[in-house]
Amino acid sequence: MESYIIEWLSLLGRWAHMIFGIAWVGASFYFVWLDNHLQKPLQQNDIDRGVGGELWAVHGGGFYHSQKYQVAPPQLPGTLHWFKWEAYTTWLSGMFLMVLLYWYQAEIYLIDPSVADLSKPVAIIIGVASLVIGWLVYDRLCKSAVAQNDLLMAAILLVFLTAVAYVLCQLFSGRGAYIHFGAMLGTIMVANVAHVIIPGQRDLVAAKKEGREPDPIHGINGKLRSVHNTYFTLPVLFVMISNHYAMTYGHEYNWLILIGLSLAGALIRVYFVKRHFGKASPVTVIIAAVILAGIAWAIAPKPIAVQSSGADSQALFAQAQSVVQLRCSSCHAQVPTQAGFAAPPKGILLETPEEILAQASTIYQQTVVTRAMPIGNLTGISDEERGVIAQWFESLPR
Ligand code: HEC
Repeated sequence: MESYIIEWLSLLGRWAHMIFGIAWVGASFYFVWLDNHLQKPLQQNDIDRGVGGELWAVHGGGFYHSQKYQVAPPQLPGTLHWFKWEAYTTWLSGMFLMVLLYWYQAEIYLIDPSVADLSKPVAIIIGVASLVIGWLVYDRLCKSAVAQNDLLMAAILLVFLTAVAYVLCQLFSGRGAYIHFGAMLGTIMVANVAHVIIPGQRDLVAAKKEGREPDPIHGINGKLRSVHNTYFTLPVLFVMISNHYAMTYGHEYNWLILIGLSLAGALIRVYFVKRHFGKASPVTVIIAAVILAGIAWAIAPKPIAVQSSGADSQALFAQAQSVVQLRCSSCHAQVPTQAGFAAPPKGILLETPEEILAQASTIYQQTVVTRAMPIGNLTGISDEERGVIAQWFESLPR
């Protein structure tokens, strides 16, 4: 019953997380776009009122006219819309999923004894620490002189994130490492909103209300953080879907693949942001494409040397079947017997000979190539048993 409840909480949490995330990324992409398309106001009296840029748009059958003030308008309007709950709810729902799946069920999703034999509390503490440390280091960097130089800042962040990816991949299961990397970036993004952008805006509003001169530094700081957020977005979104792709997180060099894909995502975003200003050079997209193609080439499945045992394919199948029954069907069954599973994961059943034969290539992929299964190696498969699967698969007619 418990695992059934967890399944529902996970469904609702994931659904909500996606909706909040779309709202956040949508609003944030929109405002980056808006900001980069602002033009000098046409009316002199707008300029006199402190308007720095304006934009006309047509959408949904209506015309919109947005104006951005250099610092703040002469008078605040009665209603002022804020954008923060999109960010906060995305983070809260994400943390809900993190707790429910990766921390509460750490022995399934987070700990991989063949990577590091962590106890559950230690694994969770490392997970929490990674989120906190990520923010502290990033925030320090932003407050230092480094942040004034975009390229230097990007280079230092790349080195730092590579180190984080490497360390996480030495401690957690591949998917656990990836999700913590993504959650760390997501935490930085939401902390930028909560600790820099929103407090700055509060001070601007307070200054107007108290008749103080609003401090333009808030606009400058807020802009810096929101520009960073826009480049973090694509890497974070890759991580959020990465658990579907064992070929990435399950690889020996999973940390490098993670950094490569993140870099490609950020570079693609650079191109789109540049395009907002008119014609953009496609060079960053080309670099991203080269990185993606390079990764795809580097991790392409290589033929695995299988020692022929001389057994016929009938006998090999019988051996493979007993490995699958021993190591896989406790989860991949109509009624799983493994604690924590209410239904066969991904609907994949590996009980009958027909089911096993039908799934031959995915079984091979998950057990031999990426070694993603058995998840967390909870059923303790041995390398010899993986070899049995490989031999059987190789013996199949193709
Ligand atoms: C402890 C439970 C457990 C065991 C044992 C287990 N799996 Fe899985 N399996 C899972 C979970 C959980 C997923 C879903 C992972 C996800 O959400 O991406 C999964 C997914 C899969 C998938 C689908 C992968 C995809 O991305 O579509 C295949 C194929 C698979 N397992 C094969 C196996 C094989 C073969 C074995 C035995 C060598 C095995 N599993 C053992 C829990 C288990």
